[in-house]
Amino acid sequence: MEKEGVLENYRKYVVGSYTKSGLVFVKGKGSYLWDIEGKKYLDFFPGWAVSGIGHCHPGVSGAIREQSETLIHIANNHYHPWQGLLAKKLSELSFGGKVFFCNSGAEANEAAIKLARLYGNKTGRYGIISMENSFHGRTLATVAMTGQPRYQEPFKPLPEGFSSVPFNDFESLAKAVDDKTAGIIIEPVQGEGGINVAGRDYLEKVKSLCEERDILLIFDEVQTGFGRTGKFFAYQIFDIQPDIMTLAKTLGGGFPVGAMVAESSIAGLMVPGTHASTFGGSPLACRSCLAVIEAIESGKLLQNVKIMGDYLREKLLSLKEKYGFIKEVKGMGLMLAIETAEECSSVVEECTRKGLLINCTHSNILRIMPAITTNRHEIDEAVRILDESLFSYGKA
Ligand SMILES: Cc1ncc(COP(=O)(O)O)c(C=O)c1O
Repeated sequence: MEKEGVLENYRKYVVGSYTKSGLVFVKGKGSYLWDIEGKKYLDFFPGWAVSGIGHCHPGVSGAIREQSETLIHIANNHYHPWQGLLAKKLSELSFGGKVFFCNSGAEANEAAIKLARLYGNKTGRYGIISMENSFHGRTLATVAMTGQPRYQEPFKPLPEGFSSVPFNDFESLAKAVDDKTAGIIIEPVQGEGGINVAGRDYLEKVKSLCEERDILLIFDEVQTGFGRTGKFFAYQIFDIQPDIMTLAKTLGGGFPVGAMVAESSIAGLMVPGTHASTFGGSPLACRSCLAVIEAIESGKLLQNVKIMGDYLREKLLSLKEKYGFIKEVKGMGLMLAIETAEECSSVVEECTRKGLLINCTHSNILRIMPAITTNRHEIDEAVRILDESLFSYGKA
């Protein structure tokens, strides 16, 4: 099919709820993508963090191929071998909890909301406090929980029981807690909100507050999870354990998967009839997640994040030295960003023209989050293109 035919089908038949780049991709391998005209791109924002171990990782492709020929789906009123194995692995890799499987980050957060409400029921509590500039998904409840009015306005009235306070501001949070608060949800590093890293002191205080007031601490690790920050989960870097953690994106290596991990005593509140997902935790989904874990462990990818994260950060800091309009280089591991003084989406366009894919959020923050399999050669190539694009932006 020709490019114009693809675009025409979208124009005519696909709901236009996305801002489009105009690119049509047909193939991916590792950190690279190829468009329909054969042009090669270096992808430093792979699938908005979904293709976190690179496009078409051979382990994931192999597991999907094999499982798809044996058993693709089995309803959740039966058992299959892979869901329990994956839950065991996630539990062992994190804090020993139990896992509910679904298909996306928003659904993982929905599960967390429902579990927090089940927990609060005994004391008449249901409120969840989130952070301003957070992002938790596009379902109605997760939009209500996302602390950004621009996502909420057109959909009012929103479900009750959600409020948000400034990120990294303990006093505001402590003031907002009341006798209806059942949970507090935080991204340890805000992704869509602009790569804002939580302070360790702040998280320690939040943890103590949750313990004192019997409030559930929920970490949304949909974007920070699965190696992105240099540990399997970002909470392990801060050494502050949540009661509930939500996962998606890299977890499935490109296959749509979401998961909620909860402390076993709390997870026990979800009894038959309280929550379900028809597709959640299918054999195919679980095999791809297990393949992602195997790739991270056998490929020593967490060490790679540490080494390549430091390498990339250093290079970005040298760009900051060169260009006065760069205010800050921020983030951790391979979840990095450049903040510019003014609107900079044209840098993304210029990078794209030159064959590098990155992202711009909140109009002046360039998100750079390569696959955690990346290497020095790819980083050098990306930084060269970024440098050229920043140079043009500075001149304009
Ligand atoms: C931190 C965080 N939570 C939740 C979501 C929603 O995930 P999904 O789009 O898979 O529903 C996202 C998506 O970007 C996210 O970054």
